[in-house]
Amino acid sequence: MLAQPQQKYAPFPVISLPDRQWPSQRIAHAPQWLSTDLRDGNQAIFEPMDGATKLEFFQLLTRIGFKEIEVGFPSASQIDFDFVRDLINGGHIPHDATIQVLTQARPDLIERTMESVKGAKQAIIHFYVATSDNFREIVLDKTRDEVMEMAVASARQIRELAEQQPETKFTLEFSPEHFSQTPLPFARDICDAVVEAWGATPERKVILNLPATVESCDPCDYADMIEWMGRHLKKRDSVIISVHPHNDRGTAVAAAEMALKAGADRIEGCLLGNGERTGNVDLVTLALNLYTRGIHPCLDFSTIDDMARAVERYTQIPVHPRQPYVGDLVNTAFSGSHQDAIKKGLSQEKNNLVWNVPYLTIDLKEIGRGFTNVVRVNSQSGKGGISYLLESSQDIFMPRRLQVEFSSVVQKHTEVTGGEVSAEQIWSMFKTEYLDGDKPIQYVGHKLTAKDSNQSQSILLTFVNCGKQVTLRGDGNGPIDAAIHALKLPIGVQSYEERSLGKGSNAKAITFLEMAIEGVPGTHYGVGVHDNFVTASILAVISGVNRGVRQGKLALTSELEHFPIIRDSLSC
Ligand code: KIV
Ligand code: ZN
Repeated sequence: MLAQPQQKYAPFPVISLPDRQWPSQRIAHAPQWLSTDLRDGNQAIFEPMDGATKLEFFQLLTRIGFKEIEVGFPSASQIDFDFVRDLINGGHIPHDATIQVLTQARPDLIERTMESVKGAKQAIIHFYVATSDNFREIVLDKTRDEVMEMAVASARQIRELAEQQPETKFTLEFSPEHFSQTPLPFARDICDAVVEAWGATPERKVILNLPATVESCDPCDYADMIEWMGRHLKKRDSVIISVHPHNDRGTAVAAAEMALKAGADRIEGCLLGNGERTGNVDLVTLALNLYTRGIHPCLDFSTIDDMARAVERYTQIPVHPRQPYVGDLVNTAFSGSHQDAIKKGLSQEKNNLVWNVPYLTIDLKEIGRGFTNVVRVNSQSGKGGISYLLESSQDIFMPRRLQVEFSSVVQKHTEVTGGEVSAEQIWSMFKTEYLDGDKPIQYVGHKLTAKDSNQSQSILLTFVNCGKQVTLRGDGNGPIDAAIHALKLPIGVQSYEERSLGKGSNAKAITFLEMAIEGVPGTHYGVGVHDNFVTASILAVISGVNRGVRQGKLALTSELEHFPIIRDSLSC
């Protein structure tokens, strides 16, 4: 039992913003994205990436379309310093991309950081200082004034050093670390002071990054704070408001989305939510959430599985099978009712302009995923999923009542094995049940002749019954009727459907024949497949007869006389 939390965990000190505007805002365009996979993400893995891996990851990020990439913490790590140098010296930075480097607000570290980016066409220098009361007091042991001085001095130092490196276009980014736990008036004052120290203008904006360093409030409280900051900053027009949500409460995506509504211009995060503890906000989810609401994220996730496998290799962290959009199971339906709805939705989808398939939030083709794994069959599944798999793997479209009949065959199997069955296994069960059965009757051949001008036909049907080849003659108004008469069995045709299997000259015919047996309630199916559609129908009759016998609904003698239904045992 959890202890009572009231004494130990204080409620979050929310600000009063009764006239908040953000809940009724709509996100209208993609934010400015920054990937911090190579910095915050890299700090959070068992084995930080080496230079070669970082370069591969950097190239992946540029291919996806990131224009701002935080590439490291060069004053804290020689690998990061060398990596930044390699990026610049090796000409690896696309002309429209900007690298960002992080530093603490300390003069020696700032100097080293500025040195690391020498020669870059453009760079963002990102410095941070903790501003929350607890961090300031417990960890830094500094007053608010002292922290403010550090921030201002750092901004001035970066400005001076930047002036000495005119070949690079510098942007300043400042993060009041633990922003979401910082009293807002102090967060606003320190941000204003940095903006002033940098000499920001609308043409030379400062990025104010307002992190939820540790996510400690509801996403709507975070959005209130962002809106409050936007309203109270002295020079809003000279500032880019950036958010950097971590995911400690599992609501980083919501926090980022609400922050955008509250006026944020930019989001920092990592692919697939890598990052310290529970991670940085997941940029893939954010981007595809925007996309599926009709806003192009300006990031390309059209081969999402390749991207995920690459990130797994770089970070050595497996993607959870339920990770939004990209997890192995997120587009899979096991449940019968879901499968049925998806099957119906997909069959209508081709006629729709707007994506409207139940249970699938995105057209999987757009993210490079097929529909192969959408429907998977286990004991929870129903006819929809089973028939979808037969349709997609074998092009067999069963009539509805056959779907019901065959699903009980599959279900019997899954209930025994308890596991999943693949499309191949379903096909094999279908063949065993309907197509390959040759007991007690095995088709050998037939000869049809027109009997008279009234389209009545005569058949000579040859088959093996209990090891004995027989040829019987029957007349009827078509081949099926004639075959049934030849067999002299008490069966009637309830429904009949014929389709082609495959296309072109190789197409085969498939016949579904639903038969009723005199005196036996219900119906059952026989199915025949053959190059010739008449033969397919005769095979369907024989398939139905054999199934009827196997199920104890029909009995035959070796002479194939007409027998009353349901006999105790077969005669051979
Ligand atoms: O989470 C955080 O606050 C950070 C800062 C350095 C921006 O990563
Ligand atoms: Zn962070």
